Amino acid sequence: MTTTTLTALDPIETASRDELTALQLKRLQWSLQHAYDNVPHYKAAFDAIGAHPGDVTSLSDLARFPFTTKEVLRQNYPYGMFAVPMDDIVRIHASSGTTGRPTVVGYTAGDIDIWAQMVARSIRAAGGSKHDIIHVGYGYGLFTGGLGAHYGAEKLGAAVIPMSGGQTEKQVQLIQDFKPTIIMCTPSYMLHLADEFRRQGIDPRSCSLKTGIFGAEPWTGAMRAEIEATFGINAVDIYGLSEVMGPGVASECIETKDGPHIWEDHFYPEIIDPVTGNVLPDGELGELVFTTLTKVGMPVVRYRTRDLTRLLPGTARTMRRMDKIVGRSDDMMIIRGVNVFPSQIEELILKDARLAPHYMLYLDRDGHMDSLSVVTEARPDACDATVRSQCAKSLQQAIKTYIGISTKVDVQITGSVSRSEGKAQRIVDRRRKD
Ligand code: DLL
Repeated sequence: MTTTTLTALDPIETASRDELTALQLKRLQWSLQHAYDNVPHYKAAFDAIGAHPGDVTSLSDLARFPFTTKEVLRQNYPYGMFAVPMDDIVRIHASSGTTGRPTVVGYTAGDIDIWAQMVARSIRAAGGSKHDIIHVGYGYGLFTGGLGAHYGAEKLGAAVIPMSGGQTEKQVQLIQDFKPTIIMCTPSYMLHLADEFRRQGIDPRSCSLKTGIFGAEPWTGAMRAEIEATFGINAVDIYGLSEVMGPGVASECIETKDGPHIWEDHFYPEIIDPVTGNVLPDGELGELVFTTLTKVGMPVVRYRTRDLTRLLPGTARTMRRMDKIVGRSDDMMIIRGVNVFPSQIEELILKDARLAPHYMLYLDRDGHMDSLSVVTEARPDACDATVRSQCAKSLQQAIKTYIGISTKVDVQITGSVSRSEGKAQRIVDRRRKD
């Protein structure tokens, strides 16, 4: 049903690397000039270090330009980074921003169209076509997830169910009644839906879904396996961020499922050493940085995402892939000198078949030392107190062995850990800020 008519790929998806590079250079020259001519911040920042868009003759020249950080976007709140008059802006989104001002992004009609094309390309990469019915469970609103997925699905010609996040009981009922073939939501919310299916006495594997396009938060390969087995679907990874566009900056191809291909004809990626700012060669782990190549409303130059990953060669497409995001530099915990990401703990939890894929991490301060407590829960058939305490001991041991830190582990009964309806918040920082 989902793959009978394969829509043709955009020619650039399978063009030669040279063709792609030539297009990128032409677009990069335009984008840097556009930012310089129309955004006072970029003019001042480029002039300050003598970086001139007119001097760019190869992609590597980009390294001479200054980075843009979230802080810069905040300083120019709300509209200071827009490169066109407000009359040409047709949409505004903003990041949730748990601390400080949200970051605001603006799109022209042309930007929205390219965004829709990129999400349509992403859904197609997941095997989707106009024959699909797509249930969108990303939140609609200032968050880019819902509307981004929606416009892309419509662009592909699919039938969209604009469900948004929340109302979990109703989501399950509508999946049963409307029979979508594709779902788009956060991976943690998909697990929440699985619980609700079971609560209603329905086997998640019996539902109509064939494919899930999951993103907006880090998730491990182990989590992919868990979701695929629970629902009997293919689970692919979609990546994006509002500052660069929204979902659909990169997306995974169903034929290889080996990490999202970055849609490099519109977003130019670099990996940098987060401390020195030096560009690292492909294959090395560092911070992902993006320069938009075609965005008109709010171009970004060398935007530091804080996401840690590696650039890998293309497989199913010419464009390069990104590895699974290890974590955000903001989410890195330093416990007694050891760097720890939530994804490392997630992998260990999912290795134990008695544990459910839900967890929270609590950071506390004992004297001068930081300590980490892991709260997770047992699957329904392992809720007995003795079993739970055995599970806690073995997880504690595994964390010590594989990550090298001592933790407190509490394995609670099924349903104890709070579920997310959007992006999962895994870390609760209870350290006193003196
Ligand atoms: O999360 C856009 C999006 C919506 C992407 C729906 C995919 C699906 P922001 O709210 O600005 O935008 O958050 C962006 O979320 O810098 C990453 O840290 C994280 N993130 C997004 N996708 C993934 C992913 C949207 N597939 C931030 N894997 C990014 C890991 C992801 N982290």
